[in-house]
Amino acid sequence: MTQSRTVAVIVGSLRKDSSSRKIAKAIAGFAPAGLDFRFVEIGDLPHYDQDLETDAPPAAWTRFRGEVAGADAVLFVTPEYNRSFPGFLKNAIDVGSRPWGKAVWTDKPALVVSTSAGALGGFGANHHLRQAISFFNMPVLGQPEAYIGNTLSLFDEQGELTNETTAEFLRGLVQAFAAHIERNTAAADARQAA
Ligand code: FNR
Repeated sequence: MTQSRTVAVIVGSLRKDSSSRKIAKAIAGFAPAGLDFRFVEIGDLPHYDQDLETDAPPAAWTRFRGEVAGADAVLFVTPEYNRSFPGFLKNAIDVGSRPWGKAVWTDKPALVVSTSAGALGGFGANHHLRQAISFFNMPVLGQPEAYIGNTLSLFDEQGELTNETTAEFLRGLVQAFAAHIERNTAAADARQAA
């Protein structure tokens, strides 16, 4: 990395023992120097209601929008709920998309990682999420694709990743994401410097 970058990490599970959060932490732990992952919480965001979009919107919306806006890139790690991604994550995407013209997502490079306790790795969640963010001109890493299956067997009792195949995959994934961020922010940096 030629310059330090921050990544907003958004996890699509609220439960304490979430495998998705453990995967997100493992990815953050494998990050190269200069790439700083910051978790942005979404469990306290009131449901999006356009009537609340006043000069004084809910404090949690303002906090969330500020944290995402201040990041250079976004990592989504989400389980699959009923062949899609969880509703409160969609709410967070909606909250970040308004006020009109001020979406905090715009142009930020993104990585979408789906997880599942089952074997299929949350393919449905992964691609529904890609559709939901497609409006914001976010360059989403194409390869490698990240569908992490059988998540309940990947960690020890302390929540540490013990599956070496998954660890190896995540190390390569975060390197590819770092390069993707660099490619997609270099032009923006050059514009700012001009
Ligand atoms: C699930 N789960 C699930 N898994 C899957 O592979 N496809 C699916 O469509 C669903 N649907 C689903 C709906 C709901 C409401 C729940 C609670 C769960 C199982 C899911 O993969 C499992 O609970 C994961 O452990 C959830 O991720 P976290 O919380 O460990 O990150």
